[in-house]
Amino acid sequence: MDNIQKQFLDDIAAAVTSDQIEQVRVKYLGRKGIITLFAKNADFSKMTVDEKKEFGVKLNELKNLATQKLQDSQQMSNVSETVGKSAELDLTLPGNARSLGALHPITMVQMELETVFEGMGFRVLYGHECETEFYNFEALNIPADHPARDMQDTFWLTNGRILRTHTSASQVRSLHRFGAPIRAIFPGRCFRYEAIDPSHENTFYQCEGLVVDKDISVANLIAVMKTILSEVFKRNVAVRLRPGFFPFVEPGFELDLQCLFCGGKGCPTCGDGWIELIPCGLIHPKVLEAGNINPGEYSGFAFGVGLTRLAMMKFGIRDIRHFNSGDIRFNEQFGVIL
Ligand code: PHE
Repeated sequence: MDNIQKQFLDDIAAAVTSDQIEQVRVKYLGRKGIITLFAKNADFSKMTVDEKKEFGVKLNELKNLATQKLQDSQQMSNVSETVGKSAELDLTLPGNARSLGALHPITMVQMELETVFEGMGFRVLYGHECETEFYNFEALNIPADHPARDMQDTFWLTNGRILRTHTSASQVRSLHRFGAPIRAIFPGRCFRYEAIDPSHENTFYQCEGLVVDKDISVANLIAVMKTILSEVFKRNVAVRLRPGFFPFVEPGFELDLQCLFCGGKGCPTCGDGWIELIPCGLIHPKVLEAGNINPGEYSGFAFGVGLTRLAMMKFGIRDIRHFNSGDIRFNEQFGVIL
């Protein structure tokens, strides 16, 4: 037993890692361990009663000693492993920076428009993305059988409402709510049944504008359009007005912006050098009537800025599909990190 004890003490002293200590435990106290077998194979037949007693006591002492030493070593090794790990912790290293995100380019353009329009006395209203058929179509002089509905197919909800196809849906809504005179813009998200390509999306943003007052004319409309575009692009931009048809304006126009990518020469983004940007016109008398406004007394203009298109122009984004991609790297290119 003295030999075993000596051998054990050498072994345990040499064991450092908890694996090595475990090996020592198995070697001595395992089922086929040295101490275990020694106890099992002891020949008691030749021992006196006193010798048996002494043998038993010594064997227990040896077992206890081994168990205790193993436990102590195991504890020591845990401590040193932890200390070893914490030695790898360097508190002077810079932490992991957490990205807080960035404003979406459409949000940035929207905020900019809101500021410019507020400076001109417009109020900002947000309208309803989920609209009634009445405000989205009927009130805007687009009855159920009107062909204009074909171009604005959308998502119909089971409760009979629709996802608005344009922010124009807020025109009569705001007339009902605030009456005339009114100056307001309605920026927001719109939805259409569209085949997606570099310049079409089923989900896009517009910013509607509405002015109703006495003696409003096309001259007022053009002046306001020029002011915002030069504010947004921070330079003089070329625009042109073409006649355009929308059932809720009379006369109606398409305001085109000269392409800022190619300077009007023609490119894949614009086609012929012009970007269709702001459909507009004087409000149709039927729309004023739907809003309980007397067309004999009041007139007004309305416009629908393609917010998504405007952002594409302003930031040089050539494919509309980036906007809804959800790729943070896209957003982060445009500056303001909050
Ligand atoms: N709502 C029209 C569209 O989305 C645009 C528009 C707005 C036209 C206001 C005229 C006046 O196509």
